[in-house]
Amino acid sequence: MKKIIIAIDGHSSCGKSTLSNELAEALDYVYISSGKMYRAVTLYFIENNISYSDQAIVDLALPDINIHFEKIDGNDTTFLNGRNVESEIISMAVAQQVSPVATIPAVRRAMVQQQQQMGLQKGIVMDGRDIGTVVFKDAELKIFLTASENVRAQRRYDELLAKGKPVDFESIRQNLSTRDRIDSTRVDSPLRQADDAVLLDNSNLSRAEQLEMIKALVNLRTSI
Ligand code: DC
Repeated sequence: MKKIIIAIDGHSSCGKSTLSNELAEALDYVYISSGKMYRAVTLYFIENNISYSDQAIVDLALPDINIHFEKIDGNDTTFLNGRNVESEIISMAVAQQVSPVATIPAVRRAMVQQQQQMGLQKGIVMDGRDIGTVVFKDAELKIFLTASENVRAQRRYDELLAKGKPVDFESIRQNLSTRDRIDSTRVDSPLRQADDAVLLDNSNLSRAEQLEMIKALVNLRTSI
């Protein structure tokens, strides 16, 4: 069957990675979380005390940041300069800095270039904020996913708890709301629905239901 590029954008914690992962598995596609790349850059800046408001320092640091993904026990795992950072990049410390870091044009240019390379072979599901609007403007299928803020905060809370990282519900809700605001209002590649994206609010959908809906759309796109 024809391989396509599937771009999934949307607000923080609306289930983009769950959907993308399940979809990639069902189609035997590669799944790339572009958010994890911005998180890995943020972790690098934190660990190396890089003051990211200084453009010259950021420009110097970027060539030293190498990110790749590997499957470990069936899970896509993020590596920063050869080190497994999957657990560190979901910490609150990273979550609190990642949106400002993702507003830096030089950081975005470096990440977008790597993401476009990853899509050359097609057969890829990539999620993020600017995948349908900037990274893969010609993606055959674009989804804009959203859900109510409370539903999203609850899902994030449950996810962190399950990973043994107990946090306060209200700080999660505030973090989501702040990230959405920064992501949607930044000058460079703000989060917005691409004109040709399909809007899906999954507040009241089960994972299985949303997966079936998207698979039906994939069938339509791959049969043309
Ligand atoms: O998907 P996520 O929550 O892991 O993303 C972390 C942050 O990275 C998010 O607040 C915005 C930023 N991001 C971005 O600016 N562009 C992308 N394509 C993906 C994520």
